[in-house]
Amino acid sequence: MKRIVVLISGSGSNLEAIIEACLSQRINGEVVHVISNVPDVFGLTRAAKHKIPSSVINHNNFNDRESFDRELYNQVSDLNPDLVVLAGFMRILTSNFTNPLKGKLINIHPSLLPKYPGLNTHQHAIDNQDSHHGVSIHYVTEELDGGPIIAQGAMKLDLQSSLEEVVDQIHRIEHNLYPRVIAELLDMKVGLKDNTVQFSHDSEFKDAQPLQFN
Ligand code: GAR
Repeated sequence: MKRIVVLISGSGSNLEAIIEACLSQRINGEVVHVISNVPDVFGLTRAAKHKIPSSVINHNNFNDRESFDRELYNQVSDLNPDLVVLAGFMRILTSNFTNPLKGKLINIHPSLLPKYPGLNTHQHAIDNQDSHHGVSIHYVTEELDGGPIIAQGAMKLDLQSSLEEVVDQIHRIEHNLYPRVIAELLDMKVGLKDNTVQFSHDSEFKDAQPLQFN
């Protein structure tokens, strides 16, 4: 069974979607461990509910990013993961963490990258009256939200919607798309070669177009 380690900082609704996809065998793998950089977040409760071991590495206990990242890397590599999944993990990672995990480390970001890296993506899309908004799943490099994109999901942005409604729509896209991408990564239908994403002929993401969600 392929081993997935999930890193979180908060509610963990994406974590839950990934766990459910493993349990229903839509993902050929299992979440073997969850790590949070924030204590007492709801994502840890979700892990416990599924009897998945978890740990907290509180970034406030470290003097600098490098030492936090080294400890994080040590713990993650001891778990021998096939894939490390950032699911609402809200820390910038340095090359101490990203380089040794190249090709095995992915993130989900709530915008159609390269639009709106960083925070407050939904508000940016609303303020700019964008016609579309969405999510991006990408390999992680030390450049913030800047690694090679694997798949995107787009939706029409209804400017009458409240921020909460937009967040909710984005979450629904994430919970659908992230497990599908993780399944393909573990089944080797998607991989990274020379910093370029490679797709097998039967990958549903090979056209590199954002999947459209209503
Ligand atoms: C998700 O919307 C995810 O895309 C976002 O945080 C949320 C976490 O929700 N991630 C980022 O903004 C990373 N830059 P969750 O904890 O319920 O899965």
